[in-house]
Amino acid sequence: MKLGCCYFPEHWPEEMWADDARRMAEIGLSLVRVGEFAWRRIEPEPGIFDWGWLDRAIEVLHGAGLRVMLCTPTATPPKWLVDQMPDMVAIDEEGRTRGFGSRRHYCFSHTGYREESRRITAAVAQRYGGHPAIAAWQTDNEYGCHDTVLGFSAAAAARFRIWLKERYGDIGALNTAWGNVFWSMEYRSFAEVDPPHLTVTEANPAHWLDYRRFASDEVVSFNREQVDILREKSPGRDITHNFMGFFTEFDHHDVGRDLDVATWDSYPLGFLEQFWFSDDEKQAYLRQGHPDIAAFHHDLYRGCSNGRWGVMEQQPGPVNWARFNPAPLPGMVALWTLEAFAHGAEFTAYFRWRQAPFAQEQMHAGMLRPDGSDAEAADEARSAAAAIAQLGDQSSVDAPAALVFSYEAAWVCGIQPQGLSFRYLELAYEWYSALRRHGIDVDIVGPDADLTGYSAVFVPTMPIAAPRFTDTLAALDCPVLIGPRSGSKTHSFCIPDELAPGDLQRLIPLSVTRVESLRGGVSESRDDWSISRWREDVSSDLEPEFALPDGRGIVFAHGNIRYVAAWPDRSLLDHLVRNIAAEADIELTPLPEGLRLRRTASHIFAFNYSGCPIDTAPLGLGSPVFGAPVLEAAGVAVWARA
Ligand code: GAL
Repeated sequence: MKLGCCYFPEHWPEEMWADDARRMAEIGLSLVRVGEFAWRRIEPEPGIFDWGWLDRAIEVLHGAGLRVMLCTPTATPPKWLVDQMPDMVAIDEEGRTRGFGSRRHYCFSHTGYREESRRITAAVAQRYGGHPAIAAWQTDNEYGCHDTVLGFSAAAAARFRIWLKERYGDIGALNTAWGNVFWSMEYRSFAEVDPPHLTVTEANPAHWLDYRRFASDEVVSFNREQVDILREKSPGRDITHNFMGFFTEFDHHDVGRDLDVATWDSYPLGFLEQFWFSDDEKQAYLRQGHPDIAAFHHDLYRGCSNGRWGVMEQQPGPVNWARFNPAPLPGMVALWTLEAFAHGAEFTAYFRWRQAPFAQEQMHAGMLRPDGSDAEAADEARSAAAAIAQLGDQSSVDAPAALVFSYEAAWVCGIQPQGLSFRYLELAYEWYSALRRHGIDVDIVGPDADLTGYSAVFVPTMPIAAPRFTDTLAALDCPVLIGPRSGSKTHSFCIPDELAPGDLQRLIPLSVTRVESLRGGVSESRDDWSISRWREDVSSDLEPEFALPDGRGIVFAHGNIRYVAAWPDRSLLDHLVRNIAAEADIELTPLPEGLRLRRTASHIFAFNYSGCPIDTAPLGLGSPVFGAPVLEAAGVAVWARA
C-alpha cells in the first residue's frame, strides 16, 4: 500500500512547492492528489487557460519522486460559468436556488453544464493524459456531498420525463405501476409528471423511488462521460472517484462499475459524531471512532469496484465539519492507516497536506500546521510507512462471510420508514458489527454479486427482492440470514400479491401478515435476547427457532435459509452469528470490546479501538511479529499466520 496526501499547490506560494514535495517524500508519501477544486485557476477566463502553474507544480512533485492523482475540477465551476449559465445551478427540494460561493453548486441534469464538464475534462486530460507523473485520475469530488444528488431544476424535471418514458413506454403503464388511481394522481402524458417535491403531503412512494433511481442514474452518466474522455486521452491510468462515508444517495455499485479503483474519504471521528451512535458510544470512542466505521467502508468499497480500492482522504487530526471535533488519540492516525492496509487498500492519502489558514476549512487539521511545522499526523504517517515497509506486501484472503448491501434498499427504507428508527444503514452496520466483534472477516457486496464460495451470507434487508436475487440465494447451500422487510415491496413500490417476503417465499414458506414499528425504549425480550424497533406477525407452519414468551416467532429456519421477523438487538444478533458460524464452520474469535481483527493471506492484524490497554494473550495467537501482546490504546499488533 502506498501513502499519499491531498495537496493544493494553488493555495501556496510557488516557492514553497519544492520543499513541500521534499518533505512529503521524506515522510514516506509517494502519491499526491491535486486539482479537484482548481477550475478557476486553470481557466481564469472562458476559454483562456493558464496551465503554467499546474505544469510546474506537477513537475516539482514528479521531480521529488512523487506521482500525481489528478482530478477533473468539476465540483467547483467558476463564477464566470455560473453567470454565463445561471440555470446550471442546483435547485433544492424546497425549490431554492443553491448559490455560488462554496462548492458542488451544479445540477447533474443540466445539459449545458454536462457539456462544460466534458469540455474541461477533455482539456485537462489532453494536457496531462500522457504525462509520466500522472498515476491516476479522480473524477470530480465526492458526488452528492452537501445534499446534491437529488435536484429539482427544470433540467432535472425534463430529463426525468424522458427517463420515465424510456422505462414505461406509455403513461397508462406508469399510472398502473405507481397506483396513481389513488388520490386522483393519474397523468395523461409524461409531460405532466413533475419531480415529487413541494406536494401538500407526502408524494407517492413509487414516484419517489423512480425519482431516486433517476437521480442515481444521472450521477452514473455524469461520471461516465468523464470516464470515457479520460480513458481515451489517458490510456493505462487508473480512474477513481472518492466516495463518502455512510452515504447512500446514489448507487455506488453502478458508479463503481465504470471505475478501476473505488476510493473513499475516511473521517472516523466526524462520522461517529454526526451519525446515529449512542451517547455512550460517542463518549467511549470519542478519539478513536467506533471500531467498525472505517472497516465497514473498506469492505463496502472493496465490493464496489472488483476488489480494487483505496482511501483518498484520511482524517489527520480534528476536522471542522462535525458538531464537535475532537483530536484523535495518539496513534490513531497510524492505526487507521494500517487498518486500511490490512483490508487491502492500494493506497491511503491524508487530507490534507498543510492546514489552510484561510477560508472554510481553516479549522481542519493537516499533516502540517498552517505555519508549516509538522502536525501530529506527520509523525504518525512516518510510523505507518515504517510498519508497512516492515510487514511487506499483503495479499488478501477470501472472507468467509458476505453481507449484501443494496442502495435501493436504503432508498426504500428512507422513502417509507414506517417507524422513525428503521434506518437501513444502521441495520446493515449492526449486522456487520456483530460479525466483526466475533472476529469474522466480511465482504460487503452488491445484490448482483456472485455469492458462491462464501460460507455464510447475510442480507440485513432487501425490500425489493428481484427474481434474479432470489435465484442467487436459491443456488446457495451455505447458511443465509435474511432480515425483516425483505421482499415486502414490488419493483414499483407496492405490496406483493402474495404478501412479504414476496418472491423470497420460494426459499422459505412463510408470509408476513402484519408489521408494527416500536418507539425508542420499547423492546421485547426472552431469556438473554431482545428485539426492538420493528416486529412482524408471521404465518407459517415452520416451528420458530427463536420465539417471544407468548409464542410469536422471531426467527424461522428452513433448510439453510433463516428469516428474522424483527429488528434483532445485539444479543439476538450474537446468537445468530454464533449459530450460523457453528453450522458453516467459520472460525469464531469473540473479541474484547473495542478490539478488531483482520486477516491477510500471511498475517493477522489486531486494532485496539478501546481507549485502554488490551491483553491479546487470551486470543491464543502467540507472539506478534509487530507490536506488543498487550496492546496499548490505539495500538496495532500483527501475527504471522501459521
Ligand atoms: C471531504 C472533501 C474535502 C474536504 C474534507 C474535509 O468531504 O472531499 O474536500 O472538504 O471533506 O474533511
